[in-house]
Amino acid sequence: MLAVQQLEAGYGESIILRDVSLKVEAGKVVCLLGRNGVGKTTLMKSIMGLLKVRHGTVAYNGVDLTKRAPGRRAKSGMGYVPQGREIFGQLTVYENILIGLEAAPRERRGQANIIPPDAIAKFPVLPEMYARRGGDLSGGQQQQLAFARALASQPSLLLLDEPCEGIQPSIVDDIREVIRSIKADGQTAILLVEQSLDFVKSVGDYFYILEKGAIAWEGTLAQLSDDVIKKYLTV
Ligand SMILES: Nc1ncnc2c1ncn2[C@@H]1O[C@H](COP(=O)(O)OP(=O)(O)O)[C@@H](O)[C@H]1O
Ligand SMILES: [Mg+2]
Repeated sequence: MLAVQQLEAGYGESIILRDVSLKVEAGKVVCLLGRNGVGKTTLMKSIMGLLKVRHGTVAYNGVDLTKRAPGRRAKSGMGYVPQGREIFGQLTVYENILIGLEAAPRERRGQANIIPPDAIAKFPVLPEMYARRGGDLSGGQQQQLAFARALASQPSLLLLDEPCEGIQPSIVDDIREVIRSIKADGQTAILLVEQSLDFVKSVGDYFYILEKGAIAWEGTLAQLSDDVIKKYLTV
């Protein structure tokens, strides 16, 4: 289980997140919602260790990871699909996935340079494109690649930051199915940031809403009423 407690983080002098606490259990999809600029990506980066927190803790399976570097968090089982995908454009599709594999702990890495079949089984289009450069892929293909890169380390916690942003509907459907199948295995915890309410409602178990860097609301799908949506999410 991921447990974030009383987290405070920001950039330079400015504090973006204040007193943020949340939990994500295995087998659940927890969605982090909120208007643009409220701090969703900042929270994802803080959990992954890409941003130093000023106060509070990030613990995973009972281990306090707050002071650990991103690489060590990845080895502890965290996988990250960043907003905007951050594919290495000059590297091939295969090399991009290998980068994810290197994040895996030795006992789960298997043979060197062999991508675990599970990582790509959900994206049959990728092996056909192994030799192509990441930068030459379409947005949707890059998103699938970013997923495969994250899955290569066989994570037990997946942080997904706007995986459907700017991609075509057919690939959004694929991504929904991938999230559902990962959830169905019951072993993986998923923290999902996504703007599309239809999408989060179709996969989410529990919802947190960020406003001005603080958790303003939390609840189940049934509790996510039109009033709540209007108050915190409608632009
Ligand atoms: N690298 C950065 N340096 C300074 N400020 C940043 C940086 N990244 C984001 N911010 C600011 O932090 C706030 C939260 O941004 P972000 O976490 O990206 O929001 P969200 O993902 O919810 O849209 C915004 O006001 C944004 O301008
Ligand atoms: Mg963001």
